[in-house]
Amino acid sequence: MVGIDVFRPDLLKGRAAFITGGGTGICRGIALAFAAHGCDVAIVSRKAEHLEPTAAEIRALGVRALALTGDVRDGAAVQAIVNDAASSFGRLDIVVNGAAGNFICAAEHLSPNGFGTVVDIDLKGTFNVSRAALPHLKTHGGSVVNISATLQYLATLGQVHAAAAKAGVDVLTRTLGAEWGGYGVRVNGIAPGPTDDTEGVRRLSTPESRAQMLAQCPLGRLTTIEDVANAALFLVSDAAAFITGVTLVVDGGLWSKSDRLFQQA
Ligand code: COA
Repeated sequence: MVGIDVFRPDLLKGRAAFITGGGTGICRGIALAFAAHGCDVAIVSRKAEHLEPTAAEIRALGVRALALTGDVRDGAAVQAIVNDAASSFGRLDIVVNGAAGNFICAAEHLSPNGFGTVVDIDLKGTFNVSRAALPHLKTHGGSVVNISATLQYLATLGQVHAAAAKAGVDVLTRTLGAEWGGYGVRVNGIAPGPTDDTEGVRRLSTPESRAQMLAQCPLGRLTTIEDVANAALFLVSDAAAFITGVTLVVDGGLWSKSDRLFQQA
């Protein structure tokens, strides 16, 4: 099980989490890791068929699970489902903003609606959910984790929409961390590198780009879902009690080792 050997099994006992995009990929891994450490988990997606199998896996770990359908772009709907989750669980301690959309498209071919759609899901969705959760988190303190990326650190061709959105997410992390610290609410981010066994890597990479990433990565492999789940467990745990406003890169050093501008020695 994800992270079970690294952290105390009762790390999150008695806490409740709300995870967007929690039915699949990285956020499914985080949801299962939280559940394995005693946390009740609500998972949210636009598509119900993405949710039920993961909700069943969460319940099998002995905690409560809620499968909630909703679109993070709709602020009023988000407030209603956040309130539902908090009232079903009796509390809300943790939010993970993982819902995201992406595709490869050169900027000159990208429609304004295509750009806006990805910014709305990734950036506006992260704001909507965080804002809706704040009244619940601030009653006893809590933690928000925003799933970011590394593609905005350099020019990533064909992803101007996602890079702009994730750059905005990093600003939300820093600013909300500062604004909400006084409520005992910490806001941090995780920037995974290209992550194995996710739809993103399946759709956005080629065998050639994968081989190039493996050759360039200082730690010699792609990010795994378990790597990201372990970072999330750390950030929401009391071990990170004095950490807020930062985005933790979990990519084995890949993004920093760009050889785009220089010949290999
Ligand atoms: N290339 C260029 N433009 C695209 C596109 C692509 N591959 N996919 C979507 N768009 C554009 C659409 O053309 C549309 O713009 P238009 O109205 O000007 O034509 C706009 O984006 C909205 O597309 P639509 O499919 O109606 O939006 P949606 O809200 O249903 O879904 C996504 C948006 C991003 C979630 C959808 O493209 C998608 O399902 N992507 C794959 C799943 C995914 O992103 N998973 C996460 C991986 S990190």
